[in-house]
Amino acid sequence: MKTLTFKTHSSASVKAYLGRNMADIPAEFPEIFGAADQTCLVTGTDAPPSLRARALALFPEGKKPRTYFWLPPSEKAKTLEESGKLASFLFKHGLSRNSLIIAAGGGAVTDLAGFTASVYMRGIKWISVPTTFLAQIDAGLGGKTAVNLGSAKNIIGAFHQPELAVCDTAFLDSLPHSELRSGGGELAKYAMIGPASLRRAVEKNLSGTLAGDKAALTACVSACAAYKLKVAAADERDETGRRETLNFGHTAGHAFESLSGGRLPHGEAVARGIRFALILSAEKGLLGRADLKYLDGLVDALRLPPAASVRKDFRKFLALISRDKKARGASNRFILLKGPGRPVPAEDINPAPLKKAFEGALK
Ligand SMILES: NC(=O)c1ccc[n+]([C@@H]2O[C@H](COP(=O)([O-])OP(=O)(O)OC[C@H]3O[C@@H](n4cnc5c(N)ncnc54)[C@H](O)[C@@H]3O)[C@@H](O)[C@H]2O)c1
Repeated sequence: MKTLTFKTHSSASVKAYLGRNMADIPAEFPEIFGAADQTCLVTGTDAPPSLRARALALFPEGKKPRTYFWLPPSEKAKTLEESGKLASFLFKHGLSRNSLIIAAGGGAVTDLAGFTASVYMRGIKWISVPTTFLAQIDAGLGGKTAVNLGSAKNIIGAFHQPELAVCDTAFLDSLPHSELRSGGGELAKYAMIGPASLRRAVEKNLSGTLAGDKAALTACVSACAAYKLKVAAADERDETGRRETLNFGHTAGHAFESLSGGRLPHGEAVARGIRFALILSAEKGLLGRADLKYLDGLVDALRLPPAASVRKDFRKFLALISRDKKARGASNRFILLKGPGRPVPAEDINPAPLKKAFEGALK
């Protein structure tokens, strides 16, 4: 087991506990659990029974969460209505400002539970227990929480750091191949924007992670979680441009998710958004042919299934990207690449290269 801690500018810390088959978390972090008068475990109805059992195994007898709340599957959980239901449940069961929410699930669960923790009684503490590969390398870390507004992703949200992120790779044993591949989308993102050492770690372990190899998954969780926390701590509120680089592939990716009516898994949408950003980077003359070929090869390695669920409606796509919360008044704004590990923002891009990238990404 290892604990990663990074100090933020506000001198708070961002912390993650990494390992496999963890037990008795409260004994490891008495400063967090000792002060809590009650804990509530939040998880998804579609999670396998083993997930709940593993989540409960993190707590010894006598210290297990007293109440449980079940969220609807995946993206259906990320609504204001569900957040309201959770808040009502917490209130009904007497959770106070000194209580603790434990969010055990994929990114949809950690986003919704973290968001509710940010507003319930003006903010209570929460622990993130990401249980998908994607959430252990990304969504469950860094304190961005959100719900969707209709088909628009993550429009209502808050920065609310979990006291701790617990990444136990034993959760990943029950993940289906499709969820490993979805995590591969965010994994590819790190290889594109991160330093050479991170790119090497991803390249070495990419095929192993897709095959569910435990050592490969552990190596990637360790390397990517450390990078994500470092970036999130350096620019906690997304103000300096550092954290925005983590959005690589996401502006188009979120639009593809919307155009699929929520049927395209998040990580697959990001992988297609990465392909979009790579083509656009080349069209804008930022990325050379050889780099494009090399980086696109990493997306190829994910062996994405056809994006049949995505409506190929370019006008709707333009409308979605102009309303992306990162656009900041521009008609569109993207993170593009000048080369491996060299992300750069670009905005107000004309429709012609956008159309070429849109068509190329959905081929
Ligand atoms: N807050 C952030 O910084 C951030 C970053 C990236 C993504 N996200 C969000 O994360 C969400 C995607 O997260 P996700 O990919 O984890 O998807 P998800 O939360 O929808 O989970 C995918 C599926 O995996 C199941 N599952 C979870 N753990 C499992 C396990 N151990 N074994 C078997 N099945 C399991 C879930 O029940 C669900 O059916 C999106 O809403 C995205 O917007 C947030």
